[in-house]
Amino acid sequence: MGLFDDMLKDSESLFLNEMELDYDYVPKIVKYREDQQQHMATCIKPLFQNRNGTHLLITGRSGIGKTVAVKKVFEDLEKETLDIIPIYINCWKKDTFYKIALHICEKVGYKWVHNKKGDELFKEACALLNKKKVVFCFDEVDKLEEQSILYSVVEDVYKKSIFMVTNEKDWLAKLDQRIRSRMIPEILEFEPYNYDETKGILEQRKESAFVSGIWDDDAFEKVVEKTVELGDIRVGLHMLRESGNAAEIKSSKKIRMPHVESAVKKLDSFKIRDSKDLGEEENFIIELVKAKPDINLVQLYEDYKKKYNQSYRTLQRKVADLEGAGLLSVKESTTKQGGKTSSLNVASKKLTEF
Ligand SMILES: Nc1ncnc2c1ncn2[C@@H]1O[C@H](COP(=O)(O)OP(=O)(O)OP(=O)(O)O)[C@@H](O)[C@H]1O
Ligand SMILES: [Mg+2]
Repeated sequence: MGLFDDMLKDSESLFLNEMELDYDYVPKIVKYREDQQQHMATCIKPLFQNRNGTHLLITGRSGIGKTVAVKKVFEDLEKETLDIIPIYINCWKKDTFYKIALHICEKVGYKWVHNKKGDELFKEACALLNKKKVVFCFDEVDKLEEQSILYSVVEDVYKKSIFMVTNEKDWLAKLDQRIRSRMIPEILEFEPYNYDETKGILEQRKESAFVSGIWDDDAFEKVVEKTVELGDIRVGLHMLRESGNAAEIKSSKKIRMPHVESAVKKLDSFKIRDSKDLGEEENFIIELVKAKPDINLVQLYEDYKKKYNQSYRTLQRKVADLEGAGLLSVKESTTKQGGKTSSLNVASKKLTEF
């Protein structure tokens, strides 16, 4: 073997289709979620016979294929018929009546949206929707600022099936009683993937994202183990990509254990790279700041310690991490007495990006 045989040339890449590692990429087949996809299809089925569909509350922890399974079903539905319109709404991004009404208008091709209020937009969209049948998916439904959109959909859209997706198992209890009594959903619970399933999913993504044969078996095994440990497929996708990058930086033609190890080291910052990776405490902090814009750290600590028995320093560290992840903005200012204070706000741009 020549000295440089194992070296990647400038023009070469280990990645074949890097975008297949994107979190929102929908693969051709969503493995191991066949039963759940079947359940969703059964809820939609009555719409094919012009009857009302069944509503569904989809729950389960983060990173286990809820969103991707719904998107796959919607893709298949779009291929099957033009009579049933699937409308997917991410309620992190679109959390008000107006934003969602506008989104629905875009989806149904209603263009005269200027200078119209939310309820006017919804009325126009409804007139078009009611010529057909609709499946709605309100993903991250617990992030809705205004539940009234659910009420309007239940009341004013004739033939529909409504899917709601959330990590919070008991979210239904938080739903306004008037909506709940009009829309009693079936529950579809997603269980975490086991070891073999996690491996199968990552194998599939690896095969399509990378040049064939460049992964050392034990290096890939390490990615699988770490993903199983953290129970979130996003971690695996992130590590596949980061390991590939680490190998490319070293101009290596193979992805080996040291490359994966350097990717594992970066996982800490990954943990709060986006809202999906926030722990309960971090979510609580964000909610507090959201409720009280410009709150300072001392005031925040007053609220925080009511729920968590933690030190001021712990809160400081968590706030710094959240700031580092671009989820909180911290502004330092000087008080009238000359002391230093900081005011906290949710970095709304980031929050609406995912
Ligand atoms: N069965 C699968 N086949 C291929 N990719 C999968 C599968 N399950 C999950 N993934 C991938 O893992 C990532 C996380 O999945 P998804 O976004 O569906 O999680 P989720 O359950 O909706 O999580 P969250 O509650 O945080 O929104 C996505 O990039 C998705 O493509
Ligand atoms: Mg999701």
